[in-house]
Amino acid sequence: SPAPLIDGFGRRLSYVRLSVTDRCDLRCTYCMSETQTFLPRKDLLSWEEMERLSRFLIQSGVDKLRITGGEPLVRKGVLDFIGRLGEEVHAGRLKELTLTTNGTLLEGAAPALAAAGVKRINVSCDSLRPEVFRRVTRGGDLAKVLTGIEAAQDHGIRIKLNVVALAQDNLADLPDIIAFAHERGMDVSLIETMPLGDIEGREAQFVSLGQVLETLRTYWKIEPTAETTAGPSRYYRVAETGGRLGLITPLSHNFCDTCNRVRITCTGQLYMCLGQDDHVDLRGPLRDDPSDAGLAQALQQALTHKPRAHDFFINSNALPPVERSHRPARTMSVTGG
Ligand code: GTP
Ligand code: 5AD
Ligand code: SF4
Repeated sequence: SPAPLIDGFGRRLSYVRLSVTDRCDLRCTYCMSETQTFLPRKDLLSWEEMERLSRFLIQSGVDKLRITGGEPLVRKGVLDFIGRLGEEVHAGRLKELTLTTNGTLLEGAAPALAAAGVKRINVSCDSLRPEVFRRVTRGGDLAKVLTGIEAAQDHGIRIKLNVVALAQDNLADLPDIIAFAHERGMDVSLIETMPLGDIEGREAQFVSLGQVLETLRTYWKIEPTAETTAGPSRYYRVAETGGRLGLITPLSHNFCDTCNRVRITCTGQLYMCLGQDDHVDLRGPLRDDPSDAGLAQALQQALTHKPRAHDFFINSNALPPVERSHRPARTMSVTGG
């Protein structure tokens, strides 16, 4: 089988985030500009290419695969694709097959996801107030997301809510969101806005989660835990609800030392780090070389590029304005977060 994926700092890559589309049916204000355009279909990896790539990565020791976007559920054929990857789960080669979704299409997708062995899904939801949700997503319907979450739970899928802390939109709602989630057995991850892509006004939305945590502690007793999903969250336990709260703080406290993941865009570009513009093309080798030799070579070459840490803040430990530090040109909807 192919060589394992070990980077120049001895970190073994076991987690791949694969974006299957740059399209999304929402346009969250911190993620996409109003005028963002989408890629032509021919640039995307086909489902056959995505599947070949995924199986190769699994043979190379990747045991966690997260399907992302854009919004992964908007691309036609995604459920068949996930169904085929489900074979890897059922055969025990893939420990976790999961996705990050905005939830708008989750109701219809839930049965197929459960059948494919998806046990856990992260759903982005920044407000439980319909009008705030509509403003942040530029037109989204909160009710559809909530129905989707329920459907997934009815199929035995665990849900984690991803909530980006937005200084101007949802700070006052965070206690309600956490209470709502914990009552229904969901974890919550709070996320700091990251400087990805050229987004007007995002700087003013930044708030350090250390500050948010202080406020939340006026409501609840919140204790650090040692738990981890091998993801970027630092987890806390809310004593009163018994639920988990994760904080994703790339800017105020980075977690790069234990980074185990890479991301692949829907056009087959491998990014070794979210905060980096440097990337390696996998689509060429996939299309040009029907044996997997070219792909293997491209992957091994890419490993030498993985940086020690992102450089959002390379020059200082100062707190925001975040936009002053390095800002990759692409948005989260291209790399898949
Ligand atoms: P689990 O821990 O498996 O639940 O997933 P996750 O939190 O890694 O995945 P999710 O797709 O829900 O991502 C939540 C947020 O964390 C997104 O905003 C991601 O961009 C961010 N994130 C995930 N991995 C990294 C990383 O390596 N670096 C940075 N800076 N942010 C990350
Ligand atoms: N900063 C932080 N989080 C972001 N997301 C999208 N863009 C950004 C950004 N610039 C979040 C989404 C989703 C996750 C994959 O990333 O809300 O939950
Ligand atoms: Fe779509 Fe997610 Fe970006 Fe919102 S954050 S516009 S749901 S890709």
